[in-house]
Amino acid sequence: MKLRINSPVEMKKVGAIIAGTAQPHDILLLTGDLGAGKTTLTQGIAGALGVKRPVKSPTFTIVREYREASLPVFHMDFYRLEADDLSSIDLSAYLAEPGLVIIEWPEVIKAELPDEYLQLVISRIDDSWDSTKRVVEFRPRGLRNEGWVETILQKVE
Ligand SMILES: Nc1ncnc2c1ncn2[C@@H]1O[C@H](COP(=O)(O)OP(=O)(O)OP(=O)(O)O)[C@@H](O)[C@H]1O
Ligand SMILES: [Mg+2]
Repeated sequence: MKLRINSPVEMKKVGAIIAGTAQPHDILLLTGDLGAGKTTLTQGIAGALGVKRPVKSPTFTIVREYREASLPVFHMDFYRLEADDLSSIDLSAYLAEPGLVIIEWPEVIKAELPDEYLQLVISRIDDSWDSTKRVVEFRPRGLRNEGWVETILQKVE
């Protein structure tokens, strides 16, 4: 299940669709190279849920909370985290909250995550560094997430 994206604006629109179909306790894993568009997608999600402040990459804080959103958003980024630093964030506490957890660079904490989540893999499809073309691949785990992807893709087309 792959979606072609042509611009940052289109990426944010997909984010808005994800936001409009997300449910409490959903987990979104965002995988892709530096500058792929993970934070841009998150901006689209948070904006559509009513977040007015800027949504910035939480690289040095690990997690940013947007509790003012109509569905609270917990945006995490584990890019610089070593496996032994994991104790610095109480992941299970966030997973227990009725919000949407969005995780950039989730590989280092995969072992701590539940079996069910929606992973998006964002890739560049052009060699030129300034190309705005991307592909978003949907990799759902579990029934809820398979259904979620179907709903998202129906609304995109
Ligand atoms: N189709 C697109 N989708 C998303 N971002 C795009 C697209 N085309 C160009 N861009 C640009 O690419 C950059 C993506 O940056 P962003 O911070 O979202 O990446 P990231 O995947 O979060 O990177 P990092 O791993 O460093 O956190 C932005 O400057 C954005 O404007
Ligand atoms: Mg980012």
